Amino acid sequence: MNTTDFSASQQRLMKAMSPNSIAIVPAASLVTRSRDTEFPFRQDSYFQYLIGFPEPDAYLVLSNHCEYKGGLSVLFCLDKDPLQEIWHGRRFGPKQAKEQFAIDMAFALDELDDKLLALVDGHEHLYFAQGHNPGADELVFDVMQALRDAPKQSKQAPTSVIDIRLILDEMRLIKSDAELEIMRHAAAIACQAHIRAMKFSEAGKNEYHLEAEIHHEFAMQGARHPAYGTIVGSGDNACILHYTENNQTLANGDLVLIDAGCELQGYAADITRTFPVSGKFSEAQKQLYELVLKAQLQTFSVIKANNTIQQASDLAIEVITQGLIELGILQGELADNIEQLTYREFYMHGLSHWLGLDVHDVGHYKVNNEDRALKAGMVLTVEPGIYIAPDAKVDSKWQGIGIRIEDNLLITESGYENLTQAAPKTIADIESIMSRGN
Ligand code: GLY
Ligand code: MN
Ligand code: MN
Repeated sequence: MNTTDFSASQQRLMKAMSPNSIAIVPAASLVTRSRDTEFPFRQDSYFQYLIGFPEPDAYLVLSNHCEYKGGLSVLFCLDKDPLQEIWHGRRFGPKQAKEQFAIDMAFALDELDDKLLALVDGHEHLYFAQGHNPGADELVFDVMQALRDAPKQSKQAPTSVIDIRLILDEMRLIKSDAELEIMRHAAAIACQAHIRAMKFSEAGKNEYHLEAEIHHEFAMQGARHPAYGTIVGSGDNACILHYTENNQTLANGDLVLIDAGCELQGYAADITRTFPVSGKFSEAQKQLYELVLKAQLQTFSVIKANNTIQQASDLAIEVITQGLIELGILQGELADNIEQLTYREFYMHGLSHWLGLDVHDVGHYKVNNEDRALKAGMVLTVEPGIYIAPDAKVDSKWQGIGIRIEDNLLITESGYENLTQAAPKTIADIESIMSRGN
């Protein structure tokens, strides 16, 4: 993403705001991990979307007031400080920030209180995400109070505060070409990481060895952080949806479920693959695996513009429930099982979510109480699964098998593009790649 891409996002936001409005968008702050150390910094997604400035403790202020032709974009950021920079790393400072980022002006954070008061004064509306960032909530409250309390009513506070997320979430739902380029790249790295884990797998190694392989591949390709906590669940652990201990020894005869995706320039990949530790599926594993794959592939056939996620979800439920009946895991008629939700013992999560800067990305799933129609530019996951608990009242051959297959699909004008196609998922492809090993 370059300054032109970020300027375009800012312009779209300013056009969507009511005339004579101002927006305040805070950056994230560092969060303490333990004494004197912080979690790795992760920029706020809204701030990242609009400017891509990589430092904490900054504010972006955008105005579409009629006095600024084409709008005004102002950044407040940490000032240069040689001593702080020796300890904590380089800072752009306002001068360099103005040269390198999509803004008209930049000021040091120390000037925020005074300058923000002057900037907000006279605007009719303030666009802001209340409740999103406690420090920013306090700042906005103080600015509004100061404007209202100005002597002799010499200043004009905005008459309304409008939720900026109403606009930004809709914008973020449709990815630009520049965003898609990054998402394709993130997806490609994540696919290679899954292949690496498949090749590395063997009995006696530990789940954390596979996690290490995955993270190594991410980092070696410049995606230093996973987009979410990596799940490596072998055997029964695959039936724990958010398993992250990743510390059990891999055993022959078990499957291993890996749900892992990297974050690249803020954008997430979110892939799940399930494969046999040994490289060879057992008969029972094959039957359940083929069913999950069939559900996913059939679902793909309805993933297109104007259809809905709900349609795809319903279809996945139908295919999985029918398959479970045929395997003798569920009994009775398809319609009764669906109505009584019996499948939920074995398929208990949703099929899909939006994907973007956040792994569970923003954007409402319903519009005016109706399921939202898919549209070109949206990116979503498709992730059916079957999880048979070790103590489920079924034939013991099924017990402790957990399978999920998850891909990332971009809706196009003519259908979809599978961004994560390169991660093998047919039984033949998985067994073939694993037989070649390291
Ligand atoms: N990795 C999180 C999810 O699949 O939703
Ligand atoms: Mn997902
Ligand atoms: Mn996932």
